[in-house]
Amino acid sequence: MKTKDPDSFLNRREFLNIAGISAAGLAVSPHFALADIQDNPLQSDRKIKIGIVGGGFGASFYWHEHPNCTVYAVSDLRTDRRNHLMEVYNCKRAYESLEKLILDDEIEAVAVFTGAPDHVRHCKMVMDAGKHVVSAVPAAMTIEECEQLLEAKIRNDRRYMMAETSYYRDYTIAARDLYQEEKFGELFYSEVEYYHPRDAGSVARAVREGKRTWRYGLPPMLYPTHSTGFLVGVTKERFTDVSCLGWGNPNSVYIKNRDNAYDNPFDAQSGIFKTNRGHMSRVNVFWQGVAHGERAQWFGTRLAFYSPGSGGQPFKIEGESVPDWKTIPNFWDRLPKSLRHDSGHGGSHTFITHEFIAALIEDREPAVDIYEALAMTAPGIVAHESSIKGGIQLKVPQFDK
Ligand SMILES: NC(=O)c1ccc[n+]([C@@H]2O[C@H](COP(=O)([O-])OP(=O)(O)OC[C@H]3O[C@@H](n4cnc5c(N)ncnc54)[C@H](O)[C@@H]3O)[C@@H](O)[C@H]2O)c1
Repeated sequence: MKTKDPDSFLNRREFLNIAGISAAGLAVSPHFALADIQDNPLQSDRKIKIGIVGGGFGASFYWHEHPNCTVYAVSDLRTDRRNHLMEVYNCKRAYESLEKLILDDEIEAVAVFTGAPDHVRHCKMVMDAGKHVVSAVPAAMTIEECEQLLEAKIRNDRRYMMAETSYYRDYTIAARDLYQEEKFGELFYSEVEYYHPRDAGSVARAVREGKRTWRYGLPPMLYPTHSTGFLVGVTKERFTDVSCLGWGNPNSVYIKNRDNAYDNPFDAQSGIFKTNRGHMSRVNVFWQGVAHGERAQWFGTRLAFYSPGSGGQPFKIEGESVPDWKTIPNFWDRLPKSLRHDSGHGGSHTFITHEFIAALIEDREPAVDIYEALAMTAPGIVAHESSIKGGIQLKVPQFDK
């Protein structure tokens, strides 16, 4: 499949052809042997020194396996999580906080996997210290924070990436490829959803050692990117208007009397969005119910694509020029050989690892750059406001250049 996006690298045969030409004299590092080139699409032996902050979800990526990356230091406020990061990434240097880690001049880039309400503050600190940043989702929690993050990125001229897992699920990559090959016709409607009921794990994460964490009472639409990423990440269009409704289980302690840090009464939110291309999208985020997982359906005039789902929904593509796939391909040939294995959230963690490092090595913006990240994040913030106001339709601010 031929694709145009930065995350869509050449297929193996195309790649080997170029590697042969490269060996004959293109700009490949003199230390880089042909065998290495076949195993690593980046054709460079430069290593980015990265610092990893946040030893929960932040310990589930593959920086230590990437041929162009060295985990130079790690940090968490908690000793147990700091030790965990050191062990996972085989790293001997640890700092007690992000604030201390960013003082280390050797570190070029920082992975910020702290709690959601800290992302903007922490990413700004990293970029103000002259370092590139990859941040866990969501990019921001308020429209003012979106503005602050963009301002800091532009002022410091650093790379910013949001680690959106939905963007690199195999079915999203497949849908993106088909979209870029113009197979959908006009993709006029999508249904995108993220369901994470409060299971035992979520309950434990909402109250830790008797204290409420940032997850306690979090409005679903302030965590919208696993859903919105399915549309923005495929077509790059922008959500412009939204009418959103919310529902709250009256027995849910997290939202009873809106007694939470967000003044939030909702466990589940469902928005109907209009896009800048006049299209429609139904975006759901639920913390209640039994449905689980991230899923999308994309409807075009020539092709419809139904992603598989945890409820047993089958994978199906129907339409005029349906690819001859029995199952969705895994796209691992776009990764360095060391990352061609399964990974978290539908195989996305290896792709996220590679894309951030690739962007730094190739001196370009990552696929989910600041503009894509804000286009996935801001619509949820406005959707939440709409649902608080009974579903009135509101305009979504745009952050593009
Ligand atoms: N599919 C996904 O993309 C996905 C899945 C899970 C979590 N996440 C995101 O990843 C992030 C982390 O998730 P989590 O479940 O590990 O959250 P968490 O709250 O359990 O962990 C955050 C960690 O950051 C550490 N921390 C906070 N401030 C720090 C500082 N100044 N210096 C050093 N360490 C600091 C905390 O001690 C804590 O261990 C969250 O933003 C979450 O939204 C994304």
